Amino acid sequence: MKKPLIVALDYANEQEVKKFFTPFDGQVLFVKVGMELFYQTGPQLITELKEAGHHIFLDLKLHDIPNTVKGAMKGLAKLGVDIVNVHAAGGKDMMEAALEGLDIGTPPGTDRPLCVAVTQLTSTTQWMMEEELLINRNLGDVVLSYAQLTKHAGLDGVVCSALEVPKIKSICGSNFQTITPGIRLAGDAKQDQKRVVTPADASKLGSDAIVVGRSITQVKEPVKAYENIQLEWGMLNEKSNRIKTVRN
Ligand code: C5P
Repeated sequence: MKKPLIVALDYANEQEVKKFFTPFDGQVLFVKVGMELFYQTGPQLITELKEAGHHIFLDLKLHDIPNTVKGAMKGLAKLGVDIVNVHAAGGKDMMEAALEGLDIGTPPGTDRPLCVAVTQLTSTTQWMMEEELLINRNLGDVVLSYAQLTKHAGLDGVVCSALEVPKIKSICGSNFQTITPGIRLAGDAKQDQKRVVTPADASKLGSDAIVVGRSITQVKEPVKAYENIQLEWGMLNEKSNRIKTVRN
């Protein structure tokens, strides 16, 4: 799938997910299943989404000691999802352990899921970093440094703000994948996101994939919203590279 628009299924249960898919009438989507949904439904929902042909980013943002993350990734690899992730703040050893776990758990004859790291959440501000996390560094520098660490650990890319993509690509290389949430159409409410970017700007900035949640899932006409965002993002991307998802 080229430069996907990934829809964040931030729902609490399977009924809500089914309701969301109904107006899409069998259309295959690239979806993100996060902790809210996965903790309620478990792997069964992943199996069902895969059977329906959807591509899946399993966004559980693992962050624990290396051995635990390795074991968790070993299990997640068996689910056959396209993308999984960790927090870069867990450190290089933890990220390497994540990859090891994925390699062990990926069924023979299939490719392992892409593994990306969250640099800083798009809801994080400079103030929060300094006052709450006691990191007295520029937010942009922290993101870049975490991206470099992620690259050194051998991961495939990062989840970051689209605003950070040009710098990350210049330091980590153009093949280093950038998946960017915090996307809003001009005029949409920002909600809790602090650093938002339109789909067109994300495209211009070089994002490999955008993640959109509430602007599609919490509006009256989700299909129309999906198409509008796809148009702004997709049309501008026709000549761009494809994200290296395992099951294209
Ligand atoms: O509703 P909204 O478009 O803000 O949803 C964004 C999605 O991307 C959420 O599922 C959120 O957890 C996720 N995300 C994010 N920032 C990150 C990583 C993931 O907003 N850095």
